[in-house]
Amino acid sequence: MKEIKDVGIIGLGTYLPEKIMTNKDLESIVDTSDEWIESRTGIRERRIASPDMATSDLATRAAEKALIDAGVTADEIDLIIVATATPDMSFPSTACLVQANLKASRAAAFDLAAGCSGFVYGIVTGSQFIKAGLYKKVLVVGAETLSKILDWTDRNTCVLFGDGAGAAVLAETEAGYGIIGAQLGADGSGGDLLKLPAGGSRNPASSETVTQKMHFVHMNGNEVFKFAVKIMGEAAIQALEHAGLSANDVDCLIPHQANNRIIQSAAKRLKLPMDKVMVNVDKYGNTSAASIPIALEEAVHGGKIRQGDIVVLVGFGAGLTWASAVIKWGKEADTIAK
Ligand code: ACO
Repeated sequence: MKEIKDVGIIGLGTYLPEKIMTNKDLESIVDTSDEWIESRTGIRERRIASPDMATSDLATRAAEKALIDAGVTADEIDLIIVATATPDMSFPSTACLVQANLKASRAAAFDLAAGCSGFVYGIVTGSQFIKAGLYKKVLVVGAETLSKILDWTDRNTCVLFGDGAGAAVLAETEAGYGIIGAQLGADGSGGDLLKLPAGGSRNPASSETVTQKMHFVHMNGNEVFKFAVKIMGEAAIQALEHAGLSANDVDCLIPHQANNRIIQSAAKRLKLPMDKVMVNVDKYGNTSAASIPIALEEAVHGGKIRQGDIVVLVGFGAGLTWASAVIKWGKEADTIAK
């Protein structure tokens, strides 16, 4: 029987578009205020991709940085998973476009649709291929251009989201390090709470779907908020139990960056002081599948996470979905993976 390998993140990279849109800028677009947005969500500004940039462009830039950080070349990558709710198009997959951009000619590639939980779903999925001995190096990217699917006349949604990408390289890690626990979940009965209704086989694109604004994000914010507050703490605790740990063991929580009030309630549920919680929703808004890798990269490269730390990633999103992973951080020790 083959030995089951320990798998961890050996490199991280992000890409954030240059253009910053502040809450003040939004005041001239919809009936809102900097004070309302900041107090209800914690968001101060977000990044907006230029018209000529699609999700694969952001994903490729983040992936290139992650490969450099990992000391891995594109032709060493066996599999590319792109988690996104804003693919360049239905097909080919955004992962195939990234594969071509990177010239990662050996890599298999597919997209993963799990809303804002997509990156955590992606690293848990990708790590299984390495554990099973099928692949050695897997690239997982969370990338979004949500600005392109927002109704910029709807103040309930357009103030919340932003564009960005974050990428991670997975590989075998020193024994005892890497992803040591995980929990993935879904409740499809809540699918109507957050959706983009048209453009698929249920409501194919027509002049009517365009007139009815069915190609934009539709969200029941209050219901999503209630779900998020409940599930963030629960999912984190279940992943910790899977790892044989408790909330007391957590050194750093990387929550999905949707709303500062949701993040604070998750921290409270885990009884974690806010200095152990990564928050950057103020700078980027909700970047959906990109938010967790962007926050993780900032925490790692900012010195907030050190070797041996217990790091918990937790997200929730459209589907409805939720996902949590516990990582014993060991990047500096990952020499066998390189
Ligand atoms: N500016 C000013 N007023 C606003 C705005 C705005 N941008 N948006 C809504 N309002 C108004 C509403 O119309 C309402 O007015 P009314 O009382 O006259 O009807 C009032 O503010 C209060 O609205 P609520 O919806 O009750 O505000 P709440 O405090 O619940 O905050 C929010 C709304 C921020 C959307 C919150 O519910 C939330 O964060 N929900 C979760 C959203 C989320 O995380 N989505 C992402 C999911 S992940 C993924 O997969 C993409």
